[in-house]
Amino acid sequence: MREMVIVVKIGGSILKKGMDPKILRDLKDAFIQKRVLLVHGGGDQVTEIAEKLGKSQKFVVSPGGIRSRYTDWETVVIFTMVMVGKINKVIVTALHKAGIKALGLSGVDASVIRAERKKKLIIINERGRKMMIDGGYTGKIKEVNSDLLNLLLDKGYMPVIAPIAIGDEGELLNVDGDRAAAYIAGSIKADKIIFLTDVPGVFLDGKPISKISILEAKEIMPKIGFGMEKKVLASLEAVSMGVKESIITSGIIEEPLKLAIEHKTGTVIYSG
Ligand SMILES: Nc1ncnc2c1ncn2[C@@H]1O[C@H](COP(=O)(O)OP(=O)(O)O)[C@@H](O)[C@H]1O
Ligand SMILES: [Mg+2]
Repeated sequence: MREMVIVVKIGGSILKKGMDPKILRDLKDAFIQKRVLLVHGGGDQVTEIAEKLGKSQKFVVSPGGIRSRYTDWETVVIFTMVMVGKINKVIVTALHKAGIKALGLSGVDASVIRAERKKKLIIINERGRKMMIDGGYTGKIKEVNSDLLNLLLDKGYMPVIAPIAIGDEGELLNVDGDRAAAYIAGSIKADKIIFLTDVPGVFLDGKPISKISILEAKEIMPKIGFGMEKKVLASLEAVSMGVKESIITSGIIEEPLKLAIEHKTGTVIYSG
């Protein structure tokens, strides 16, 4: 019983109105049979609340085409307040109501996610030139406390993790939810990682892709737009860490997890 391990990333894109009952029903079914760990996003809600607090949010793009929030100290504090204080608790309470033993954690608690603070960031400025800026409070993940996560999974809990990491000097660091999910999946040797988002999968030249290898995924990366580019990159990372497959799929349909696991929906990225 409960041998299969799956990591599910729930995108902020589908969390705006809280947890969708369709996902809850499916998570409950999965939870009865499998070991399930959730990682959530919520970047849009962070932006919305930060702006209400009078802190305007800036985004930067790396030379590799990855878009990220420019995170100064005030921003990482607001990020933590919204991700942990609001979004994580809304999810955990909904899971409890659905009868799932959920335990909310941030990557800071028990050092679940350790990261190295990026001292400098190379970005592409408005004129298309490379530029070096201060790294702020963003981190590159380097270690996951898989002992604690496995202990919780062994005891029948569903860990629900907010994408914040702790740095070497004990600082709060903003880490991307998709990549945090990938690193966690790799560290706990998950069988699958499933990204639930607001589109049916990865589209290439307007057409949905049903299955691609990591080699093919690497090739198409430059053609993938913001939002999805991180899921493709995170899938590559998870699969290279030994996760058997990554599935990027819609979280707004009936039985999103069941259909994804049966390869009836979504884009599957596998090693090969
Ligand atoms: N090639 C692509 N295929 C599918 N979606 C894409 C592609 N390029 C960009 N996207 C965008 O990526 C979005 C999903 O990423 P994001 O908005 O970050 O969602 P989440 O909150 O689930 O992480 C989609 O809504 C879509 O607009
Ligand atoms: Mg996203």
